[in-house]
Amino acid sequence: MTILVTGGAGYIGSHTCVSLLESRYTVVAMDDLSNSSEESLRRVGKITGKSMEFFKASVQDEDALSGIFDSHKIDCVIHFAGFKAVGESTQKPLEYYENNLASTIALAKAMSEHGCKRLIFSSSATVYDGRNIVAPFAESARTGNCTNPYGWTKFMNEQILRDWAASDPEVSVVNLRYFNPIGAHPSGLIGEDPRGIPNNLMPYISQVAVGRRDHLSVYGDDYDTKDGTGVRDYIHVMDLAEGHVKAVEYAMEHTGEAVFNLGTGTGYSVLEIVKAFEKASGVKIPYVITDRRPGDLAELYSDPSKSAEQLHWTAKRGLEEMCRDTWNWQKNNPNGYEGQRKDD
Ligand code: UFG
Repeated sequence: MTILVTGGAGYIGSHTCVSLLESRYTVVAMDDLSNSSEESLRRVGKITGKSMEFFKASVQDEDALSGIFDSHKIDCVIHFAGFKAVGESTQKPLEYYENNLASTIALAKAMSEHGCKRLIFSSSATVYDGRNIVAPFAESARTGNCTNPYGWTKFMNEQILRDWAASDPEVSVVNLRYFNPIGAHPSGLIGEDPRGIPNNLMPYISQVAVGRRDHLSVYGDDYDTKDGTGVRDYIHVMDLAEGHVKAVEYAMEHTGEAVFNLGTGTGYSVLEIVKAFEKASGVKIPYVITDRRPGDLAELYSDPSKSAEQLHWTAKRGLEEMCRDTWNWQKNNPNGYEGQRKDD
């Protein structure tokens, strides 16, 4: 069984390649390396002792897509490739809509033309209408009212794929809504390697721990939460990766469109994360409390029961393991895959 992984060199993509190879799938990876490094794929090979084919190309490149589908019998596609920075999406909305929507459309068209009809899409909890519903978020909860263009691209991509699935009874689409992926492969060989200043909490904390940043800014301590700081559903990236293997199995057995949360169902506050990371690393994380970040919600965590029942998947790894593996990756690779970068 052969799986095409778009965005395969990225953070979640590379960890998913490990899980797929370990589950004995043949993997073909595709990535334009605009926000990732081919070194991650070399390390996936080192972890698994298995090889995979790699195509350096954008998913918007229709010729490249045709070339891959013409030369391989792809059974299922996992589509990770896309722009993903929330803040940047508000500065460059047209680039975000163009890239994230055009690539999904090009991919689904190429799949249809080549008779490949199973697609797993990398969606996000950001599609939930978090300002009007309360956690835990179940898949049936209201969506939309997104706070930024990035979130809308996830929302719109889900709809495009839902319509594609409705148009052809052979199509199987699984929209996976991720909560907050953190952690790394326990080998410390692959992990999250953001370019520039990290936007997300865990990479920021781990860069403070390794001495690349001075201190953490905690965005607000006056939310209506257990300690006033924002609460999120952090999930170990290897649990997330294994969720994709389950989604591939699901797509083999079902047609139509399905949506599943990938989260743990447990919410932790920013200060709880800081404390857990300090414990796992033995490094003190200096922080200051600042204003709230625009667009942030107080509390966001999943109801993971549908995934447990229908996808036969539950997150197994706890916060201690998430922090331990993040630290193991960061301390072994203080500057990520490519050493000191010029934008640091
Ligand atoms: N936070 C800080 N300081 C930082 C970074 C974050 O205090 O330097 C706080 C935030 O205010 C929030 C929490 O840490 O309370 C988590 O923030 P992240 O930026 O790590 O994650 P978000 O929940 O804001 O967003 C993430 C992904 C999005 C995705 C969303 C889905 O970045 O891509 O989860 O819920 F859409």
